[in-house]
Amino acid sequence: MTFSEIIAKKRDGESLTREEIALFVRGAGDGGLPAEQLSALLMAICIRGMTAEETGRLTQEMLHSGEAWALAATVPEAVDKHSTGGIGDTVSLIFAPLMAAVGVPVAMMAGRGLGHSQGTLDKLEAIPGFRVDWDRSGMIGLLEQCGAAVVAQTDNIAPADRTLYALRDITATVPSLPLIVSSIMSKKLALGAGTLILDVKCGSGAFRKTLAEAVELAEALRSVARSAGVACEALVTEMDQPLGPALGTACEVREAIEILEGRGSAPLREVTLRLAEEALVLCGRDRARARAGLEKALDDGSAAAAWEAFVRAHGGDPDPGLLPRPRRVVDILAEDSGRLTAVDGEDLGRAAVEVGAGRRRLDEEIDDAGGIEVLVRLGDSIEPGRPVARVLLGHRPVDEPAVIAKVRGAFTITETDADLPPLVYGTPEQVG
Ligand code: URA
Ligand code: CA
Repeated sequence: MTFSEIIAKKRDGESLTREEIALFVRGAGDGGLPAEQLSALLMAICIRGMTAEETGRLTQEMLHSGEAWALAATVPEAVDKHSTGGIGDTVSLIFAPLMAAVGVPVAMMAGRGLGHSQGTLDKLEAIPGFRVDWDRSGMIGLLEQCGAAVVAQTDNIAPADRTLYALRDITATVPSLPLIVSSIMSKKLALGAGTLILDVKCGSGAFRKTLAEAVELAEALRSVARSAGVACEALVTEMDQPLGPALGTACEVREAIEILEGRGSAPLREVTLRLAEEALVLCGRDRARARAGLEKALDDGSAAAAWEAFVRAHGGDPDPGLLPRPRRVVDILAEDSGRLTAVDGEDLGRAAVEVGAGRRRLDEEIDDAGGIEVLVRLGDSIEPGRPVARVLLGHRPVDEPAVIAKVRGAFTITETDADLPPLVYGTPEQVG
């Protein structure tokens, strides 16, 4: 069968066989198929969809386009955690040392910031000396030393996904469910932890805006993981506003330390605790005891100690006094009175990128001193003059009036009462 016949099959709504999917992924990985044909099949998949079986096969083929670390073969108890992408989502920085503090190792491959989001790697690199370039044996060494490892995804992990993702980006095929699921899960399965907890974001700041869409993604991701033999649960959580107040690199590290010391933002603490609790249940622990142990670790200093060990093992200096600080802080004051009924998290994320928390061009350096702090939550009653956010300015030259206008414009204050979304919607079954 020629590749154009395979494209025609999917165009006409038929299912593809394992061999046909393998041909597609091999062609993407080794450059054997032209971008025109890869793109045509991507669009056909985007429009026609894939069965759960096809999605599973596509994931497996993409995973095997590169290196498989098969972590569970060496550290069977290690847990991986993934978020589908949020703003002010500092959870990973807290989750890893928190789980280590209660005796469960955590291993994650993380990425850099994309678009309006801040990447976990960029955040960790705000810590002086922190190294993210570890290979498989380096990761296992970190797990032995401190029970938590966060490393950069290497070029050898799912290389077919890099090609396909770049094509999806320019062919309007990013939102396809089977393409999203295979992209995310090929990389998770390439690391190969035996347990995986998924945080599927839902709301205006997520790429799944409605609860039905988020549940669909949560079920599809979990189903591929479970079919591959991974103990997996997914929680759908709210992303109608930034999760934690800090959007940036150094400021998110400071936020994580506050939570690990038993202080800090209540919503960020709660979402982290729910994900950690669910992960411990997957590991066979009793739910109520797991929850109590996690809270105790945050409140008695053991999670904070695990953070210090985690930072030192990765080569970093855990002294928070060394984290870059803003050169200047501009408070954004409310002009209207009423209730906060909407927050444009993506605009806040873009403003954070602008002032240093991300790259406006691929070759731009992060300015760790820059960021945004959000001081209000949906439903808050606002009076004129109340600070709703702070712009943290570092050393990068920025168009200050434009950034301030963007941050101010991200808050919608009206006289009406809005329904408040829950912080955690729950597992697909709990959502119903
Ligand atoms: N994250 C990924 O890695 N891939 C997608 O397709 C979407 C989110
Ligand atoms: Ca740095």
